[in-house]
Amino acid sequence: MNSIHILGISGSLRADSTNTIILNSFQEHLPRHVTFEIFQGLGEFPHFSPELQDTEPVTRFKNAIQQASGVIICTPEYAFGVPGTLKNALDWTVGTGDLNDKPLAVISASPLNSGGDKALASILLTLTALGAKRNEHSALSIPNIKQKIRDGKVTDSETISLLKAQAENLMELISSVQG
Ligand SMILES: Cc1cc2nc3c(=O)[nH]c(=O)nc-3n(C[C@H](O)[C@H](O)[C@H](O)COP(=O)(O)O)c2cc1C
Repeated sequence: MNSIHILGISGSLRADSTNTIILNSFQEHLPRHVTFEIFQGLGEFPHFSPELQDTEPVTRFKNAIQQASGVIICTPEYAFGVPGTLKNALDWTVGTGDLNDKPLAVISASPLNSGGDKALASILLTLTALGAKRNEHSALSIPNIKQKIRDGKVTDSETISLLKAQAENLMELISSVQG
């Protein structure tokens, strides 16, 4: 069996981020043999410019993507869009195509009823440009997230089921690539 490693990327830099909590809940539904890490340092990237060379932490980010069998992004919505730190990090991967054909799932979460749907739509367009490997089940928007979390854990049973389905779908995408 090929070893499987999944990279989590949180679009929030907050220490008690609801999106990071969701990533931690997502990982609980991965099979035992699968390893998981959440990338640290997204807020330290320089502003992307094609004229700049990759430096730490950009190289570490690209290596983490390249070494991952699959990627899960979970992001809030800011001002109806994708947080600048996350979009900036994704922009760094355009030239080197690190996410091209990479199995990937994306989740937006919001305290509002909208579930961050505008940020989700926007990041899906970006991920299409980057060539990430997705299917029709690889995106999820979670509304009213504050009511679905208690003591740093997702407690809402429907949301837990949806995260389990996301984990299973990402595993299927990875299997389809690894053969
Ligand atoms: C400046 C600012 C703008 C925001 N804009 C939106 C928005 O457009 N849509 C939305 O659903 N939530 C918006 N929010 C609320 C965030 O979704 C909320 O703070 C969320 O908990 C952040 O995610 P985190 O808990 O992972 O840090 C905004 C919050 C801030 C501070």
